[in-house]
Amino acid sequence: MALRNVRVRGDEILTKTAKEITEMTPRIQELIEDMFETMYESDGVGLAAPQVGIRKRLVVIDCGDDPIVLINPVILETSGEQTGYEGCLSVPGKVGQVTRPNYAKVKALDENMEEIIVEGEGLLARCLCHEIDHLDGKLYVDLVEGDLLDAEAEVEE
Ligand code: NI
Repeated sequence: MALRNVRVRGDEILTKTAKEITEMTPRIQELIEDMFETMYESDGVGLAAPQVGIRKRLVVIDCGDDPIVLINPVILETSGEQTGYEGCLSVPGKVGQVTRPNYAKVKALDENMEEIIVEGEGLLARCLCHEIDHLDGKLYVDLVEGDLLDAEAEVEE
């Protein structure tokens, strides 16, 4: 396992649409392990492959329950609404207020390329939407209501 370099805003890869994964390979298995390590090292709750420079539809998430691997994820259903602060490892030191669905249901493949359904509310729903946006070249900063703030200022509130 190894830490990967996290790409930051301004890097073109963060604006590109990522490609579907058609088969599991040792390289992708290694990528998944490295993405978890990189995410945990930075205290993140989610990371998408384009953020480490790989244009593939792969996301890892850990909102405190179980680690989740999503390959080729598709949002099937959303409902409700939540507004709260959001950050991103590709936009270091910043947070902004974003409105997201409060519930999301996602279809994906797991690391064994078997179909899974993941349902989340609250933080997990926010995380699912945020990470899947990365696969379509979208950053939360375009959804921010008001200003992008310094992360420390928000914590002090
Ligand atoms: Ni992000």
